[in-house]
Amino acid sequence: SYGFQLHPYVDDTLHGDDMIANFVLNNFGCPPTWTMDNYEAEQVEKIRAQVGYNSVFLMASGGDDSTVAARLFGEALGPDRMNLLHVDNGLMRKDESQAVIEMFKDLGLDKNFHFIDATDTFLEALAGMTEPEQKRRAIGDTFIAVFESEARRLGIEDHLLGQGTIYPDTIETGGTKRADTIKTHHNRVPIIEEMIAAGKVIEPLADLYKVEVRELGEMLGIPHDMIWRHPFPGPGLGVRLLCADGQVQDADDLAAIAPAVTDGLAKYGLTGAPLPIKSVGVKADLRSYEHPVLIHGAADWDTLAEASGTMFKTVTGINRTLWNLTDTMPTSYRSLAATMTSDRLDLLRECDFLMMDGLRRHGLYGEIWQCPTVLVPLEIDGKGQELCILRPIHSERAMTATAARLPLDLLEELKESITALPGISGLAYDLTSKPPGTIEWE
Ligand code: XMP
Repeated sequence: SYGFQLHPYVDDTLHGDDMIANFVLNNFGCPPTWTMDNYEAEQVEKIRAQVGYNSVFLMASGGDDSTVAARLFGEALGPDRMNLLHVDNGLMRKDESQAVIEMFKDLGLDKNFHFIDATDTFLEALAGMTEPEQKRRAIGDTFIAVFESEARRLGIEDHLLGQGTIYPDTIETGGTKRADTIKTHHNRVPIIEEMIAAGKVIEPLADLYKVEVRELGEMLGIPHDMIWRHPFPGPGLGVRLLCADGQVQDADDLAAIAPAVTDGLAKYGLTGAPLPIKSVGVKADLRSYEHPVLIHGAADWDTLAEASGTMFKTVTGINRTLWNLTDTMPTSYRSLAATMTSDRLDLLRECDFLMMDGLRRHGLYGEIWQCPTVLVPLEIDGKGQELCILRPIHSERAMTATAARLPLDLLEELKESITALPGISGLAYDLTSKPPGTIEWE
């Protein structure tokens, strides 16, 4: 057999598409018959065959994956054989659920559209948790519990479960032999895996990357602005609100790497320190939990990128670099105990709103692929409970990403508005590519 000893399909591989085309078309003479038109027709047929006389019940988060899936089910089955459920899990962006309800109205998909505010149920399920994977599972399981109870209430328990799962969701949950579990997606929790095995789940987008889902969405007549909204993870702000037990993470490691950080940054005229928290990253298909480094000082983007590169090359035990957006280099840090509470979620919602509003006001929303805003329970210089991190990135398929370079006047505005919020102790900008960092922080 023949294969590639590299990743020709990731965005950063120069001429990767040409390599694949050459390999498949020229070397093996396979005919290029895969087109989006064919894919749509094929999936419509497949949906009809799998659903038979039954119907589909689909969670409609408002994200492009489930919205495109809803449109495709509508096409295949008609509005009467499809029920949609939008759940406000309390982990949505500010005013997001209302916007989703309006969007489905505008799309004409509101015939069997149901809405439930399940904020309290989700917060109860997450109470006291700090472990990222445990949180993801709790969110996934609660989605299913809410979904099942709504199905019972509506008398449609026998419907198939429709999901807008896309290809990377499956890979990253360890769904291929190649990759270990990078993280468990909410649509791949054990209950769902059992339902898949029993043939009760239907996922028409499972072979597609995000760019292809968008292409399909546009073909199905979903307006451009809806399709090109930034991707938002199913567990929502649940993966962006970090929780901790307040223990300093490996204080000895931290003391051991601090001198290498200082030395490495000095030649760029910068200062910095490893932070007493751990963030998730990905290395060679495996999850890594390592320290972020906070970099301080005035520098242009190229210098910051070079300094970051030096950090990753010369310091062990780190997986992210952050640029301090406040005026002074912090002198003290205290890792705090924190869980998923509605006050913390409201604070994150406000930070996220300011960030997204800034992107829109500066006409940059469409240029940025995704922009998580993250809260970490880290007290800095005794100023507040939360370090806020901005993570604007460029990407195409989410498998790799690079940090975007936002204009400094926007960063100045965000510094003013975000650091003025009660509870914020610091503000930083994530400079890390994926790999070694992931896009999300958990
Ligand atoms: P990472 O953080 O792994 O994210 O670089 C890659 C893409 O996946 C999204 N993401 C998720 N989406 N459930 C989702 O539906 C999840 O648990 C989840 N975690 C990450 C992330 O927003 C990015 O677009």
